[in-house]
Amino acid sequence: MQRVTYNFNAEKNLGILSEAAFLTTRWKEKINTMVIGWGTIGVMWRLPVFIAMVRKSRFTYEMLEKSREFTVTFPYGELPPAALPVCGQESGRKMDKLAASGLTVCPAQVINTPVLNVAGMHYECKLVYDRTMGEEKLDKALNELWYTKKPENYHAFFIGEIVASYITE
Ligand SMILES: Cc1cc2nc3c(=O)[nH]c(=O)nc-3n(C[C@H](O)[C@H](O)[C@H](O)COP(=O)(O)O)c2cc1C
Repeated sequence: MQRVTYNFNAEKNLGILSEAAFLTTRWKEKINTMVIGWGTIGVMWRLPVFIAMVRKSRFTYEMLEKSREFTVTFPYGELPPAALPVCGQESGRKMDKLAASGLTVCPAQVINTPVLNVAGMHYECKLVYDRTMGEEKLDKALNELWYTKKPENYHAFFIGEIVASYITE
């Protein structure tokens, strides 16, 4: 495990995110991971942050509201074949997605939520703010494109302070 700054490999990680990264949550004994494609790496309140956009319907949304922390994994190597379809389409409400996907986890360095046990770069994040968006101030074209078929399923912005960042092989 090699500790690195939060913005190390930022260009590479944003490229991976645009295809598929993973956001993992833990509440009590339940551990769940979902595929994310939208997010931001940046600085807010002088803190390094990762901002995830998670729709209200996701099991992950419920988990985040309770646990107030999460990890992000940008995979650098091969993944089990079921990882994307299971973690990107199935809900953790109904199944143990880790068992079903063939993914495993290992303990994080700072927070209680584990990181995926895959080669890649990982963030450990403590939630500092979250807000579910609405249509009031949203660009009309984006509202039409992303939300009119799914009203009441707006994204929430989950802003996590990156408290640890590292690469595993
Ligand atoms: C490539 C890809 C990217 C995705 N990105 C997001 C995202 O950024 N935000 C989101 O809410 N859902 C996203 N999804 C959908 C969730 O991964 C999917 O609904 C998942 O089953 C939710 O799991 P959960 O209910 O266990 O939280 C994405 C799916 C795929 C395949």
